[in-house]
Amino acid sequence: MHSISRRSFLKAAAAAGTGLVAAGCIPRRKKQEPTAEAPLKLGVLLPYSRVYAVLGQSITKGMELYFDSIGWVVGGRPIEWLTEDTELDPQVGLRKARKFIEHDRVDLLTGLVSTGVAYAVRDLVHATETVLLIANAGANKLTRLEKSPYIFRTSFSNWQPNHPMGAWLYHQVAQNVFVSAPDNEAGHEMIDAFKETFQAAGGLVLGEIYPPLGTSDYGQYLAEIGKSGAAASYSFFSGSDAVRFVKQFGGYGLSKHMLLAGTGFLLEEDVLPAQGAAAEGGYSGLHWALTLDNPENRRFTEEYKQMYGKEADVFAVQGYDTARVIAEALKLTGGETQNKKRLIDAISAVRFNSPRGPFEFDPETHNVVQNIYIRQVASVNGALHNQVLDMVEKVRDPGV
Ligand code: BEZ
Repeated sequence: MHSISRRSFLKAAAAAGTGLVAAGCIPRRKKQEPTAEAPLKLGVLLPYSRVYAVLGQSITKGMELYFDSIGWVVGGRPIEWLTEDTELDPQVGLRKARKFIEHDRVDLLTGLVSTGVAYAVRDLVHATETVLLIANAGANKLTRLEKSPYIFRTSFSNWQPNHPMGAWLYHQVAQNVFVSAPDNEAGHEMIDAFKETFQAAGGLVLGEIYPPLGTSDYGQYLAEIGKSGAAASYSFFSGSDAVRFVKQFGGYGLSKHMLLAGTGFLLEEDVLPAQGAAAEGGYSGLHWALTLDNPENRRFTEEYKQMYGKEADVFAVQGYDTARVIAEALKLTGGETQNKKRLIDAISAVRFNSPRGPFEFDPETHNVVQNIYIRQVASVNGALHNQVLDMVEKVRDPGV
């Protein structure tokens, strides 16, 4: 006889259109182990529309994969899962965070992809003593000057993947570059961190350009990058911006004259299939790579592919690890979330081997401490993926 596993059941349900990953404030009916405890209300704030929609979907999928593996019960409490679309708009994000906190009375808040939305919700979260686990947004100040005991980050600070890349790129690849990123807080924080070590090593920045987020035609910007004669282009773009920038970089013939480099999001698994040949050879720094060879990553990437029929990406890893932090912390508190000090101490104590390598929080900043991998896009078994060239161990945001 043929028995159906939970994973196959969920896959089948998704295929049948039961909306496993649909946005909207709908409490999910997950297949849960029976328990008498009150549900843990988890408010998930992510973009499910616009430039970073795929990032929101990947984080959701990563969380679902982990919660699925533990039967949707944490610290003895079944998870009641609420999602809202931030629409990548700080004011919308703030309004929905307020609704989660004041109306839905969530026990924990998570998600957040864009730095702008994360900065917008900071004061509300702090004033209401709501514990927030940021699953993407790199906003440097949230684990520095504007840090809060209630805010943790499982993803990265904007500084983390860029700072090690500056010196590495100077010594290994190019001594002058043209830099570009979206004209927003994340774009400037990422490029500033890269420039810090690139210039300190002796590198020259021949020009910089900051197009609006969601630019569809990069022609005028690429013309300027091309004219600079720089040996390499270093950029931060993500989601559909990254697809368009890299495709047009190849389309306008820049690949023939200069090397492509950037923050890992520029050349990550979510965008590589659409970028195609234009991405090949590109260098980037990030806290994960699909091809990382460790037991946790092998298991995660296989299970993700089995469940969703596609390769995992860094955003899915961040969702998966965020779910694990919640589960491990609630195990330590016995499911209790009202005593904030106890909950914060429990989250701070969580450490484990993630698909990205060792995972732990910096007790000073509540930002994750993690390895940064220097990667290059190459053909692996007939498809383009990032291969790891180098690693900078245990990168800790400076916190100031
Ligand atoms: C940010 O705004 O922090 C961000 C957005 C996309 C990818 C990485 C960071």
